Amino acid sequence: MKKIEQLPSLRGTLTVPGDKSISHRSVMLGSIAEGDTRVRGFLKSDDCLATIRCFRDMGVEIEEIKGNEPGGDVLVIHGRGLRGLREPEGVLDAMNSGTTVRLLSGILAGQPFVSRITGDESLRRRPMDRIIRPLSYMGVMCATEKGNGRLPMSVFGGDVHAIRYESPIASAQVKSCVLLAGLYADEPTFFTEPALSRNHTELMLSTFGGNLKVRKKPQSASVTTILYPGTILTGQEICVPGDISSAAFYMAAALLIPDSEITLTHVGINETRDGILRVIRAMGGDIRTENVRMEGREAVADITVRASELTGTEIGGPLIPTLIDEIPVIAVLAACAKGTTVIRDAAELKVKETDRLSGIIDNLRLMGIRVEETEDGMIIRGGRLKGAVIDPKGDHRMAMAFSVAGLISEGVTTITDETCVSISCPAFYDDLYALT
Ligand code: S3P
Repeated sequence: MKKIEQLPSLRGTLTVPGDKSISHRSVMLGSIAEGDTRVRGFLKSDDCLATIRCFRDMGVEIEEIKGNEPGGDVLVIHGRGLRGLREPEGVLDAMNSGTTVRLLSGILAGQPFVSRITGDESLRRRPMDRIIRPLSYMGVMCATEKGNGRLPMSVFGGDVHAIRYESPIASAQVKSCVLLAGLYADEPTFFTEPALSRNHTELMLSTFGGNLKVRKKPQSASVTTILYPGTILTGQEICVPGDISSAAFYMAAALLIPDSEITLTHVGINETRDGILRVIRAMGGDIRTENVRMEGREAVADITVRASELTGTEIGGPLIPTLIDEIPVIAVLAACAKGTTVIRDAAELKVKETDRLSGIIDNLRLMGIRVEETEDGMIIRGGRLKGAVIDPKGDHRMAMAFSVAGLISEGVTTITDETCVSISCPAFYDDLYALT
């Protein structure tokens, strides 16, 4: 249980922990590459540790070399090549991590064995049919134990056939699953999505020697990614940028707490992830990106945020995939903004770690904010937040978003179980209070 009260101001500089999506991918691609991959800035959170455990269970040697400075540790992955994974003895456990199970399934599709994957209670409720369908078109059968499209699931790896797949949703997990399976196919794999989702798999695959092309349809948000198989992946040196999704909580806190000014260093600002910056600017927030540079193929910057008066905005369409994980904290910004904020095209929130659409609406109402539920989003009327008892239901981003709400609410806010922040940002509270 965590009690949160108002803070006078936030000041200082923080290096946010490594990007979760990129950390997962560094272990996965490092495992199926030839030779060693060395990763600096790897996020040691529960989700990424689940990925490490799954690959260790398939015979991949992964070592951690301690550095002298903070954040100076290096993860070394001794790659076993595309087809070098060993059949796991037991069930692979992705725990709470959707990224682990969905990307891993793409890799398992090309292995000459059957594997079983499961996850925690939350992950066992989340839909797997979104990857089962394209994998079945690729000739790879996945069978869910209860026949309900949910984990536990067996992946019958073997021969993979190339497909041209039109995804009904913009999902980087589905795209990555199909592209990773495409590494094992006979012909190029085409993946079309209605709007561009995060492209870390494509960028990192290119770094490792993969061959990909991206085609944008004129006058449309739809994007096709083509993966050409037949290349060998080679181990790399990777430096993981800070996670903009974790940075978002500190940005929001600094915008809302009077008199605040903070700088977040080395934050990933890949344009498929930077929707939060665009929304903050549209709301009138004082935010500056400086020292923009490249970390491999990923753009990073230092971001300075100052306390600001915010106004409501409209969020929808192709912007949504670029900020999908930030919607809980954007809703908190909207609750404190002048006027109304409309969020639409966000039905995917219903199938995250929890149903975030209803969670956001219920919790904002508990805190005294007027919110209208819509089919695929919500309409939030800015007001004054009151402290409340918030149950994040094990969802890390809900715990952090409503902790930020607690920092500017009248009275005390209680987060009933805050330990779930370890899923993506284990040092969340320590880093937050170090800025006071
Ligand atoms: C992720 C993709 C997104 C995001 C998740 C991480 C990834 O999920 O919400 O936290 O690393 O590929 P979807 O692909 O389901 O949109």
